[in-house]
Amino acid sequence: MIGRLNHVAIAVPELEAAMAQYRDALGATVSEPQSEPDHGVRVVFVTLPNTKIELLEPLGAESPIRGYLDKNPTGGIHHVCYEVDDIHAASERLTQQGARVLGDGEPKTGAHGKPVLFLHPKDFNGTLIELEQA
Ligand code: CO
Repeated sequence: MIGRLNHVAIAVPELEAAMAQYRDALGATVSEPQSEPDHGVRVVFVTLPNTKIELLEPLGAESPIRGYLDKNPTGGIHHVCYEVDDIHAASERLTQQGARVLGDGEPKTGAHGKPVLFLHPKDFNGTLIELEQA
């Protein structure tokens, strides 16, 4: 069911520093920072030949990654995103398999304007999984 790895998201305490590191030390192509108030993050996209890395910094008091950074102050891998063809079919299949879809179970519009949902990390080996309809 799952297809390509769409991105790996890394929560970072300081976006400009992380951005400079990916650009200057790792020699990657990085975007300018974008604020996404609806998602509570500022984000930089790192484009790699086979996937993307998203560097996420909390934006606002209600940011969903604030708690993660409180527990992991130097940052860390926050989630991985796999592509699916049909997000509703994926949700139904996963729910039938006993996996928990976060929130109300309905797909939301993600950072790229496409439908996404998140799966409970306790059901997937401690990994927060995002599914995006490609
Ligand atoms: Co993501």
